[in-house]
Amino acid sequence: MSAIDYDIKQAAVEAGDAPRVGDLENMRPLPRISVHAFCESEQLQQVMDRCANDRRMSKVSLRITSGSTAAAANMFASTPTPNLIILETRANPQNLLAELTPLAAVCDPSTKVVIVGYYNDIGLYRELIRNGISEYMVHPVSMTDVMAAMAAIFVDPDAEPLGRSIAFIGAKGGVGASTIAHNCAFGISNLFSTETILADLDLPYGTANIDFDQDPAQGIAEAVYAPERLDEVFLDRLLTKCSQHLSLLAAPSMLDRAYDFDGQAFQPVLDVLQRSAPVSVLDVPHLWSEWTRSVLAAVDEVVICAAPDLANLRNAKNMLDALRKLRPNDKAPYLILNQVGMPKRPEIGPSEFCEPLETDPIAIIPFDINLFGNAANSGRMISETDSKSPIAETFSQISHIVTGRVALKKAKKGGLLGLLKRK
Ligand SMILES: Nc1ncnc2c1ncn2[C@@H]1O[C@H](COP(=O)(O)OP(=O)(O)OP(=O)(O)O)[C@@H](O)[C@H]1O
Ligand SMILES: [Mg+2]
Repeated sequence: MSAIDYDIKQAAVEAGDAPRVGDLENMRPLPRISVHAFCESEQLQQVMDRCANDRRMSKVSLRITSGSTAAAANMFASTPTPNLIILETRANPQNLLAELTPLAAVCDPSTKVVIVGYYNDIGLYRELIRNGISEYMVHPVSMTDVMAAMAAIFVDPDAEPLGRSIAFIGAKGGVGASTIAHNCAFGISNLFSTETILADLDLPYGTANIDFDQDPAQGIAEAVYAPERLDEVFLDRLLTKCSQHLSLLAAPSMLDRAYDFDGQAFQPVLDVLQRSAPVSVLDVPHLWSEWTRSVLAAVDEVVICAAPDLANLRNAKNMLDALRKLRPNDKAPYLILNQVGMPKRPEIGPSEFCEPLETDPIAIIPFDINLFGNAANSGRMISETDSKSPIAETFSQISHIVTGRVALKKAKKGGLLGLLKRK
């Protein structure tokens, strides 16, 4: 190790975020993240290939591209950014920040960036870390260096929790909360190539298994009734793959037993989901019990689905008020109006419905018995049944909003590296 190299690593140690280089054997497997590496040198390409074949990477969706920062900026102008970008650049310290600007403009704020550079420059290192870059490593890096950098971001106990959880619940039974949750889980996994887990919390009656045409033997019941066994490995065995990036933690949907839960019963499930995938979508049944309240209190986002009648309005108002109290430091739950415009049904107009709720709906989904009926009966999602339908577009918009991706692709005004700043 050169003296200057030592300086950079020493600075990282002082900052308390040095990668724990060396001990591959003790490294825990990486969770279901997406990683895209842009390699300028053959050497890094080979290192990334070796990473790809490591057992700790088996859940990682890894892409390796020969190219540099410009190639990355180009690619992500039209496609969503992954959880982690590894970027090799020969840019010198004076030019590096400027070189990153076009990428910053198209980078989702949740995406982490690790840079492999060619300059042992402590000032540059500090400046990059200040600007939200997760790690700066100096070429040539080893496979252990790369794996340790990824583990420091996504595995370490003091790393930021990986996953965001989004709960969908109906203001009344049968308003389409599950249908919306399933279509959004599918949309999020598909549109952003983000590993997503859909957990069906409606144990006796859940329909996620039917909606995705699956019949798994195990699922959420095994998880909730065996909290002492529940870790990432056990969870893996309970998941069923629905599509390339979507896994299902299915409900038993059987009435061979009664399903009563303690208030905190689902907490271990939420914890393991959060450690296992960047996004978890929870299909919460229309209940107001200790356990549903504590699930709704614990998740990152709540989405209330309502149909436009008086009972829905009253319930949505009560739910919004109760959830604002339960989550005083979070933004209010999102509202979706569904099954709007059912023929012959007297309805409350959207603005009249939303005025007392003091919130605007993030989507208004029309009643469309044909489209939803066909999708439900064929075990497919709306975007698979009719990708051109405006309702498929609405689900895409909801997927963007609930994952905070709305501002994606809009260059931020102001500071150069504004979008890379996430400290
Ligand atoms: N916009 C819509 N237009 C027509 N039918 C719809 C629409 N949204 C949902 N549905 C249908 O309504 C029915 C109930 O939907 P779903 O099971 O998703 O509701 P839920 O709120 O989860 O009900 P539960 O209270 O049983 O959990 C399903 O048959 C679904 O296909
Ligand atoms: Mg439901």
